[in-house]
Amino acid sequence: MNCDLLVVGSGFFGLTIAERAADSGLKVVVIDRRPHIGGNAYSEADPETGIEVHQYGAHLFHTSNPAVWEYVNRFTTFTNYVHKVYTTHNGVVYPMPVNLGTINQFFQAAYSPGEARELIAEQAGEFNVKDAKNFVEKGIALVGRPLYEAFFRDYTAKQWQTDPEDLSASIVSRLPVRYTYDNRYFNDKWEGLPTDGYTAWIERMADHPNIDVQLNVDFFDESQPFNKKAAVGQVPIVYTGPVDRYFDYSEGELSWRTLDFEKEVLPIGDFQGTPVMNYPDMDVPFTRIHEFRHFHPERESYPDDKTIIMREFSRFAERGDEPYYPVNTTADRDGLLKYRELQADEKDVYFGGRLGTYQYLDMHMAIGSALSMWNNKLDRR
Ligand code: FDA
Repeated sequence: MNCDLLVVGSGFFGLTIAERAADSGLKVVVIDRRPHIGGNAYSEADPETGIEVHQYGAHLFHTSNPAVWEYVNRFTTFTNYVHKVYTTHNGVVYPMPVNLGTINQFFQAAYSPGEARELIAEQAGEFNVKDAKNFVEKGIALVGRPLYEAFFRDYTAKQWQTDPEDLSASIVSRLPVRYTYDNRYFNDKWEGLPTDGYTAWIERMADHPNIDVQLNVDFFDESQPFNKKAAVGQVPIVYTGPVDRYFDYSEGELSWRTLDFEKEVLPIGDFQGTPVMNYPDMDVPFTRIHEFRHFHPERESYPDDKTIIMREFSRFAERGDEPYYPVNTTADRDGLLKYRELQADEKDVYFGGRLGTYQYLDMHMAIGSALSMWNNKLDRR
């Protein structure tokens, strides 16, 4: 192998490792089976409108980790975008996550924080969190029946394509309710969008003379030089693809939810006045609509007479679908433990990232855990 380190996957995890290794003088090859770098954070300008579209679902950067914030600012500046979400229930728009504004609008009232807290506690008393038998009982125990039925029941049913009576109470530990009018979606110290887009940021991470990126290369395709059979044991490998695929599904397939996206260019300047509108009711088949122009209100190049929207539908993934969110059933957790045991026998192969560890990671978490892997394991080899 003509390199010091092989990185499988060019998402944020893989690129952070590659960038750190290249900076320390190692020659790194990064392969990705997709035709572009960046993994799920990849975005590109829509050819008709020029509006930046996040191809794998909306990506909002936020972190409270100073080391991650310092690191990402080496490659991009960030806009002052602050993420806010609204939801349309029974033809009325409410602010999300559920906050004092949502509660007062929903109950047509002017409750103070204390009064709202008392009301929700009383409504939530119908069930006890500890004894909840399923998602319905847990949801009611957390926020009371009226808010649960309006904002969480059908939305969750659509996300999981499953009746909430049949969903485990364990899929939710808390449902966010704020007793202030704060409707910032994220609580992190730093938040924003990369000023000139995700792809420019990602390309700068890979732009190093010691990094060789090879696209359309699948690690399991033995006709390619950097494949599993040829590489394992010959060169250290950071693997960020699906962990079950690495072991040829020997301990079973881990289950994922996926999303289907339906994009549409509309001949109007503004469709919904906000980046993300949720649709929590059953009579609407999709879960939300993204309108990408609103992620960058500062961009003057966007047209006044066109906009691009993307409807999002959720379902269980089958093999061949993009794996997006781990389902994490008991069988999945058992399978993952067995895969972790198998990993211990793989000489000089390091599993990381969302797919390699079978866990949902936000971008800052993927970058943070890659920095830890580099500092604590790889840099000390
Ligand atoms: P990622 O999946 O990005 O990269 C893995 C790469 O490995 C892919 O490019 C894949 O093609 C490649 N690969 C897999 N198998 C391979 C093989 N056999 N051979 C070669 N290459 C292979 N985060 C956040 O902070 N804010 C947000 O708003 C969102 N929004 C969001 C929406 C949706 C729908 C999802 C699914 C995820 C988010 N995220 C997010 C999370 C974000 O996408 C995540 O943190 C990063 O993708 C993690 O980067 P990784 O490198 O771990 O995986």
